[in-house]
Amino acid sequence: MSHEALSQPIIRMQDIIREYVVGGEVMRALNGVTLSILRNEFVAIMGPSGSGKSTTMNIMGCLDRPTAGDYQIDGNSVSALQEDELAQLRNMKIGFIFQNFNLLARTTALENVELPMMYAGVPPKERRERATEALIRIGLQDRLHNRPNELSGGQQQRVSIARALVNRPVLLLADEPTGALDTRNTAEILALFEDLHAQGNTVVIVTHENEVGAHAKRIIRFRDGCIESDTANGAMVMTHATD
Ligand SMILES: Nc1ncnc2c1ncn2[C@@H]1O[C@H](COP(=O)(O)OP(=O)(O)O)[C@@H](O)[C@H]1O
Ligand SMILES: [Mg+2]
Repeated sequence: MSHEALSQPIIRMQDIIREYVVGGEVMRALNGVTLSILRNEFVAIMGPSGSGKSTTMNIMGCLDRPTAGDYQIDGNSVSALQEDELAQLRNMKIGFIFQNFNLLARTTALENVELPMMYAGVPPKERRERATEALIRIGLQDRLHNRPNELSGGQQQRVSIARALVNRPVLLLADEPTGALDTRNTAEILALFEDLHAQGNTVVIVTHENEVGAHAKRIIRFRDGCIESDTANGAMVMTHATD
């Protein structure tokens, strides 16, 4: 990888506005959000309910587009892309992890993890190998052929993390990943995120739980659709220093 690719932000949001029309009235869910996230950062997005966290995450994950402003992921300007290009970018560059795991109920752990590679056109043999490897890496070697309802919540979330990792995305995006887990499973999943960060992954977690946010190296707080603060280890981060 070139030096340029390494120093370029994975995420670059510039003056992002997202408006919704509700009952004929325009309301701003995001009101001018500017932020950059670099390779191998571990960021928590926090803030009260309705402050714009999920809207931000949906835009970051290319599930939604801003009303105005520029969003670049890994150097690609999202506004320039067609829907099919966006879907491809999403599949190749982003690993999603959701509160309720979003696993397919009737398929095994192995098949769930293979799914993103099917969309990416990876041949069956390689798919099977890579899915098996990913599940072994997160300690589920004994659960390859189990369906979600035969797994604990923590195990299901680990399957979803293996699924998120399997196309080797540049960004892991997790929305309340421990929201449905008890204390012990929460600790397990947070330790796993710390490992993934230590291995070089870029991790962004949306959470309203302080204990979860405390594991991140940087905390961005939202309020009323704006960034209220952006801190690392108690110190202010220069959000625009990467421009
Ligand atoms: N699809 C939508 N239609 C209308 N309003 C929405 C929609 N999604 C979010 N909003 C509004 O945008 C604001 C921010 O929402 P959201 O990003 O979900 O906040 P958070 O995730 O921080 O709780 C809220 O006021 C919410 O009601
Ligand atoms: Mg939300």
